[in-house]
Amino acid sequence: MDYLEALQNPIFKIVGTCADELNVKAYVIGGFVRDFILKRESAKDIDIVAVGSGIELAQRVGHALEGRPEVTIFKNFGTAMLKYNDLEIEFVGARKESYQRDSRKPIVEDGTLEDDQNRRDLTINALAISLNTDSYGLFIDPFNGVEDLKNKIIRTPLAPAITYSDDPLRMMRAIRFATQLNFEIELSSLKAINENKERINIISKERIVDELHKIIGSTKPSKGFALLHKTGLLPIILPELTSLQGIDEVEGQRHKDNFWHTLEVVDNISKTTDNLWLRWAALLHDIGKAPTKRFDKKIGWTFHAHEFVGAKMVYKLFKRLRMPLNDKMKFVQKMVLMSSRPIILSEDHVTDSAVRRLVFDAGDYVEDLMILCEADITTKNPRKQKRYLKNFQIVRQKIVEVEERDRIRNFQPPVSGEEIMRTFGLKPSKEIGVIKEAIKEAILAGKIPNEYEAAHNFMLKTGIKIGLKPVTT
Ligand code: CTP
Repeated sequence: MDYLEALQNPIFKIVGTCADELNVKAYVIGGFVRDFILKRESAKDIDIVAVGSGIELAQRVGHALEGRPEVTIFKNFGTAMLKYNDLEIEFVGARKESYQRDSRKPIVEDGTLEDDQNRRDLTINALAISLNTDSYGLFIDPFNGVEDLKNKIIRTPLAPAITYSDDPLRMMRAIRFATQLNFEIELSSLKAINENKERINIISKERIVDELHKIIGSTKPSKGFALLHKTGLLPIILPELTSLQGIDEVEGQRHKDNFWHTLEVVDNISKTTDNLWLRWAALLHDIGKAPTKRFDKKIGWTFHAHEFVGAKMVYKLFKRLRMPLNDKMKFVQKMVLMSSRPIILSEDHVTDSAVRRLVFDAGDYVEDLMILCEADITTKNPRKQKRYLKNFQIVRQKIVEVEERDRIRNFQPPVSGEEIMRTFGLKPSKEIGVIKEAIKEAILAGKIPNEYEAAHNFMLKTGIKIGLKPVTT
């Protein structure tokens, strides 16, 4: 492979020249080189390692570049960063690191390029290309990372126990890369991850979640979750999912394994949507099933109100993982809470009023909910699969029809509270809520259309029924 091709951006020549002037060696290293070889969409992050001061090199490059971009210095880390066009270029001095058992923060000393490559997480992330003029384009791959890229293998530069124990985030990274790239993790690495799994507890929740997002954002997220499960990391990070694993049998009746089912659902939904939070919803849609599982002699296995329990668990899970407790969380909760609604609906005769209620409750997210429910079909029986899909098609069609007629999405009451007060000469009181609720119910049930005239008449009737007298007509 011609590695000069990786260096087409003029920035690399500039970095090389500046490094020559400072009499230091400079290399582009890590993700940029890996992604070039993989022909992945070219990374916007470029990591430069200098055998010497990364900060000085960054400052010199900053001066040499047109527009003199600002150089941000992270003194504590000995790194510097500058933005150039749409690139983010990070400079670091080559390091030798040693770690203490209870911390991710290493003791750092200056080192050679080899020291620096040794301390990196994976062989495929330790590839470097020289930028100095006399060796421009020289490729340095001490651990056969290119072979690993070809063979699709995740391996560590040093003994895996050392690499993972040094920085336990790498356990997540190894699994994340295996998922994103569809690589296999070598056996000794899997073993080392299993042995070091408890050390994940010294990693901040934010970084763990970053890796989870990337796994969930992959083409086939189940690969990552199966690896997290196999290595024993999953019960530490997401015990709610592990609890779904297993099949119980009582009196010859079995339920499905909800863990593996969930993973199938996540893979399914990933074919249809890139919405990260909808994918999260797929991952969590059944978590309420573990705590609600019961066996009833008459009906068999039940998971009564698991959607409600699951939605509550979503909040706790987000909180524990320091994920945002904002509209994203509420969206996931809503999807979990409503995850069975279209299914119940499609099993029965699809009535207009049931569809109106569904649209009313789901609001703008009714399409997302349908996507989730379609992904939830994991039956291996082709006849059943076809039937379920067809039923959802009917529900979808009904949603369109009902919406065209009744405009239930983002429902606004056709008669305002103010008008109710004026009509009956009321001060703010409970009765207004009662009448408004009755109007809404009548519309959803299809007793009256979602129109002003009909709603106004219905208001008059309802008010009189509860003993009010109109002061105007
Ligand atoms: N690295 C490491 N250990 C970590 C994180 C990073 O050894 N825990 C090294 C790897 O050599 C990696 C480089 O630092 O290639 C840059 O890290 P980062 O930007 O986080 O990842 P990339 O490999 O660039 O990949 P991505 O952008 O997909 O995260």
